[in-house]
Amino acid sequence: MKKLIAGNWKMNGSLAANAALLQGILPGVTAQACDVAVCVPAVYLAQGQALLADSPLALGAQDLSARESGAYTGEISAAMLRDFGVRYAIVGHSERRQYHGETDAVVAEKAQRALAAGITPIVCIGETLAEREAGSTEDVVKRQLAAVIHLNGHCISEIVVAYEPVWAIGTGKTATPEQAQAVHAVLRAQLQAASTQADRIRILYGGSMNATNAASLLAQADIDGGLIGGASLKAADFLSIIDAAS
Ligand code: 13P
Repeated sequence: MKKLIAGNWKMNGSLAANAALLQGILPGVTAQACDVAVCVPAVYLAQGQALLADSPLALGAQDLSARESGAYTGEISAAMLRDFGVRYAIVGHSERRQYHGETDAVVAEKAQRALAAGITPIVCIGETLAEREAGSTEDVVKRQLAAVIHLNGHCISEIVVAYEPVWAIGTGKTATPEQAQAVHAVLRAQLQAASTQADRIRILYGGSMNATNAASLLAQADIDGGLIGGASLKAADFLSIIDAAS
């Protein structure tokens, strides 16, 4: 299947820095065999929409509200994201689970809101170091994914899953291709039990993926792309990862 390389800029950037970064990336994404997206901070969606118009680079958001509309100060709805041409929205990133108390149930609701608005949710799941060391990696990721399947079973083939081991995020410690593939295979089996179309659901790997390790990770049978943090902020590195996926 066509791989997806998505950059997660997190809380980085400025109008000037974003323009420079996109100017560095865009000339390199003309005829890629993979899909490419950048998930930008919400205040820069308008800038992203303008700079990415008519380009093969899709615009993504990093979060959205679990509510449809109304008195939810500070929140941004799926419909608002649609207004700015957003195609993907990250939901349930471990940083939101950790620092903003997002539960499995809230993450599932956010995925549902995205799907209802025609936005592809990139649902993030992954275990902490303590959970891995306790031997509960499989239980944790299956529990996290089960909540999303439970609420969205009828359209589960429309989601993207991102396996991001928390201990590998921003640490330079990547899961080995074998470690990542082992978890991806578990997730694939869980999706297959829920959907006859599970084989077309993209399961991305995220966590210190970079220009050097991308090819070996992307060569694994069930790794269908990457969710890239730090390395998506450097045009040359991001383009190398895109090349590895093409
Ligand atoms: P890094 O690539 O910086 O480790 O971040 C991964 C990530 O959290 C992407 O969502």
